[in-house]
Amino acid sequence: MALKWWQSAVFYQIYPRSWADSNGDGIGDLDGITAHLDYLNGGPDSLGIDAIWLNPINPSPLKDWGYDVSDYCGVHPDYGDLAAFDRLVSEAHRRGIRVLVDLVPNHTSDQHPWFIESRSSKTNPKRDWYIWVPGTRDKLPNNWLSTFGGPAWKFDERTEAWYLHIFLAEQPDLNYRNPEVVEAMHDVLRFWLGRGADGFRIDVVAGLIKDAQLRDNPIRTASDPDIPWYAQGSQDPLYSTDRPEVHDIIRGFRRVSDSYDSRARDERVLLGETWPRSQEHLADYLRPDELHLGFNFRFLLARYDAGRFRAAIEQTEKSFGANAWPTWTLSNHDFMRHISRYSRDGDGEARARVAAVMIMALRGTPFVYYGEEIGMREVKVPGDRKRDPVGRDGCRTPMQWSDSRNGGFSGAAETWLPCGDFKSINVAKQMNDPHSMLSLYRRLIRLRKESTALTEGSYRSFDGGPGDCLVFHRETESQHLHATESQHLIVALNFAATPRKIDTPAGKILLSTTIERAGESAGAPLKLGANEAVILDVGR
Ligand code: GLC
Ligand code: CA
Repeated sequence: MALKWWQSAVFYQIYPRSWADSNGDGIGDLDGITAHLDYLNGGPDSLGIDAIWLNPINPSPLKDWGYDVSDYCGVHPDYGDLAAFDRLVSEAHRRGIRVLVDLVPNHTSDQHPWFIESRSSKTNPKRDWYIWVPGTRDKLPNNWLSTFGGPAWKFDERTEAWYLHIFLAEQPDLNYRNPEVVEAMHDVLRFWLGRGADGFRIDVVAGLIKDAQLRDNPIRTASDPDIPWYAQGSQDPLYSTDRPEVHDIIRGFRRVSDSYDSRARDERVLLGETWPRSQEHLADYLRPDELHLGFNFRFLLARYDAGRFRAAIEQTEKSFGANAWPTWTLSNHDFMRHISRYSRDGDGEARARVAAVMIMALRGTPFVYYGEEIGMREVKVPGDRKRDPVGRDGCRTPMQWSDSRNGGFSGAAETWLPCGDFKSINVAKQMNDPHSMLSLYRRLIRLRKESTALTEGSYRSFDGGPGDCLVFHRETESQHLHATESQHLIVALNFAATPRKIDTPAGKILLSTTIERAGESAGAPLKLGANEAVILDVGR
């Protein structure tokens, strides 16, 4: 089985504002990223990253930190310009790193020229590019709620009509029932693909099209214990997201991106921020003519518990089938960093190591959120330094490169968000320490690349282990008589803070979070220390 590049790749998410500042203004930028690419790939000590996804870099009033775009075909001056983007892409490609940009098609900024026109009069040619409902100030068009709180509608006095905003009022939703909007967004895809982007992470992709009649959403009755309230909401977004018609919109995006594939260049990739109404629908988006990849948010939502993680994995394996390819993510720019989530009720660092082995050893494409590879914590941002309207600053703080000024992120007097504890947690310190989180990530990524079982092997749950351990098989069957490439691994993760035994066959430890055990011949049963994770080769 030959995997596509995006199936065997390890992705790394960069929050451009916080990764590396090249000009000392306290804000990360594109030249800063270019200057640090060796960290990711191309050098002997690199992490081994194959692709990066950049959070939005477009011009924006930054009400939602770039998710309110005012020009889809430009670069925000804080981050540089198009020439800086071109340099970044060519330097990344030289190191074998692909570049995905963030596409925010669901809504624009209220400062985007399209919305300024649309809002100007009822007869403006762009009026119907957004979702307007004429009415009076005292009567909302329906009961839909903004993800950020309050009603999803804002009344506009000038034309006496409401417009829809699923996020901030400064982020009006585009109307994908209008073919001109679809065509305009296709042009945006063409713009970035033409400049060499390897694809897009597509924001709010499941919500792009709304019910034609804008019917009320039902009030949610059942609640899923794995999903915290902020992801669940009081309503079931039946009519505002995950509509059947959304698949046509996505197919249109895919046709555009496929038209850029060529023999000379690998496939361009569409990666969705997929929040379907139900997890069961996720695979519906991952079809040969729709998205290549979609985020699976189960691990961002699940508490640290072997049983919950196992259920998430098995549900994914079962519903995905042969066509859909899984992804695994522990953190991103919208959630508290996982090391801090896990610290709430125990040993965060050790648990984050176990979780790292898990995402790198599962079947599917792993995503690393910048800084998790060094164990960056959620940062407590004081009230007067808060920047995000809904409190997500703590996971968006500057990358911690060294113990020097601003953690080596910037030479500025003050950075746009405060830095975390870079004196104790930073890249330089961990680079040559075999016990560090960084060394663990590096070893995991190397091992993953060398092992066909880890990249393309099948997944099978291991039955009969202790309930607080997560154990699974990864296997390749050789087609040939001389089965040199066949490999059978058992991945054993101890979620408990005390030792456990697992009834595996004897084998050789390829990797352990207790690094001294690498290379050990482990007899049966396998002994795991507290919070230990092991990848065991049990031969055939
Ligand atoms: C996505 C982004 C989030 C943003 C929202 C609105 O959920 O990840 O950061 O606020 O969309 O665009
Ligand atoms: Ca800068």
